[in-house]
Amino acid sequence: MIDDLKIAIVTGANKGLGFEVARQLAKNKILVILTSRDEQKGKEALDKLKSEGHAGYFHQLDVTDQNSINEFAKHVKDGIGKVDILINNAGIFPEQNIEDGEKTISIFDVPEEKISHAFNTNTLGPLRLIRALIPMMSPDATIVNVSSSMGQLSTMDSAFPAYRISKTALNVITKLTADELKENTDITINSVCPGWVKTDMGTSKAPKTVEEGADTIVWLALGADGTKPTGKFFQDRKQIEW
Ligand SMILES: NC(=O)c1ccc[n+]([C@@H]2O[C@H](COP(=O)([O-])OP(=O)(O)OC[C@H]3O[C@@H](n4cnc5c(N)ncnc54)[C@H](OP(=O)(O)O)[C@@H]3O)[C@@H](O)[C@H]2O)c1
Repeated sequence: MIDDLKIAIVTGANKGLGFEVARQLAKNKILVILTSRDEQKGKEALDKLKSEGHAGYFHQLDVTDQNSINEFAKHVKDGIGKVDILINNAGIFPEQNIEDGEKTISIFDVPEEKISHAFNTNTLGPLRLIRALIPMMSPDATIVNVSSSMGQLSTMDSAFPAYRISKTALNVITKLTADELKENTDITINSVCPGWVKTDMGTSKAPKTVEEGADTIVWLALGADGTKPTGKFFQDRKQIEW
């Protein structure tokens, strides 16, 4: 029965950290709804999960498209009825193209479209999902915003401005949401930096495997060993500065 199972939603679950988080949650007997903006890629990811012996569902979801989010939220409400875990993982790194020298682009030169694109996906995307799904969240649901140490104000430096702005702002959403939710719910929300991880975004030069990168995300989703923190920022299962 679906009522007996914990339900997790993972955005950008067709590959990279999102897929690995889905896999680790499934290993913990959580029923995962994999979502991705590309239907074909998402279905292939679900097939892969199933081929490893896990259950799961797929639903199309583009976090920049409010219609897609509304349709998805309706599907969850009517077909599933609750959300126990939301992993806001989908993200872009608009200054990724190191070959073009964009790595060193200055805050004075970064095109506004790159800032808007990153903000729309990495910041507003998670906010849209939170707003749409809060009404059907379990009383003790957990939300994990996959952020980055590049969004840390305490260590902020000059590279990758569009990405940094979007992740710092995502951390603000974590804090604001945590503060509002703690008034009358036990829903927790935290930001996490997965570290530099071998994915399409992180590239093969990254030191961490996807398994290692997903670890703290899943740990928080499952309640952080019963400590249930909220409104905090984590890396490697330890709280870090904003
Ligand atoms: N890898 C790292 O070193 C690292 C470090 C710090 C933080 N992070 C964060 O970790 C998260 C996952 O990154 P990753 O390394 O796994 O990157 P990735 O392999 O590039 O995967 C990104 C995922 O986000 C999806 N996505 C992008 N825009 C979307 C949209 N509008 N709607 C729905 N899905 C969308 C992508 O879908 P498509 O396949 O359709 O493009 C893909 O599934 C991101 O939030 C990233 O900022 C990564």
